[in-house]
Amino acid sequence: MTINLQRPVLAGNWKMYHTPAESRKFFSEFLPLLPERLNGTVIFFPPAISFSEALHSVGDRGGVHFGIQNVHWEQQGAYTGETSAIMARDAGAELVLVGHSERRQLFGETDEEILQKVQAILAAGLIPLLCVGETLQEREDGRAVQVVQGQLSAVFHGLASEEAQQLLIAYEPVWAIGTGKTASPRDAEEMHGRIRQWLSERIGSGPAADISILYGGSVKPENAGELLRTSNVDGVLVGGASLDPAGFARICTALS
Ligand code: PGA
Repeated sequence: MTINLQRPVLAGNWKMYHTPAESRKFFSEFLPLLPERLNGTVIFFPPAISFSEALHSVGDRGGVHFGIQNVHWEQQGAYTGETSAIMARDAGAELVLVGHSERRQLFGETDEEILQKVQAILAAGLIPLLCVGETLQEREDGRAVQVVQGQLSAVFHGLASEEAQQLLIAYEPVWAIGTGKTASPRDAEEMHGRIRQWLSERIGSGPAADISILYGGSVKPENAGELLRTSNVDGVLVGGASLDPAGFARICTALS
């Protein structure tokens, strides 16, 4: 699937919030606040049960895309409770979140499983949005870059270079997710620069420049503009603040 991911990429991860009815209400308030000509790409990751309602509430509004928060690595099978990438594609998803720290920490997802999921997502023709990030302890121990590079390496070593170019990446320091603590633009700039450099060494500087690297972790209307102006920050992945239509609309127009 090819979608035009014009930068900045402004993504909302709703996590386990917004029922189907609440999703419909969200878009009835959000869409009128979105400028007709959008400077960037807006992506929503609703809960799977609310996905269809969210998609249909938006209709054919240009510039707004949808993804799913998680998939299994198999295409189908006896896996009660799971959803596959081809099912997500059939339902209208264009992207899939993978490797989110909540999946890694709360559901025990391993690097190996994350690679298998990325491969399944690509095989289904969808775009993986791969999340990476260090914990507070890892940062304090001076291992932030090493941890992030390890998470990248675990996935990229299993991909051909044409596949690698299809990913989006989100740098989400775990200590900044849902805590109200945002990485400073300097911290974000440093890590995003390291990620870009790492990608350049593996797939070449041209393809590496084309991979959008989003920042996530307590992004709010008040700090989105500054983060989006930071070098190598090509977009934002927003959790809590994407649940509020007016607040997320402010983030989406931060650079307009
Ligand atoms: P937050 O979540 O914006 O609520 O910190 C970000 C995320 O988990 O993607």
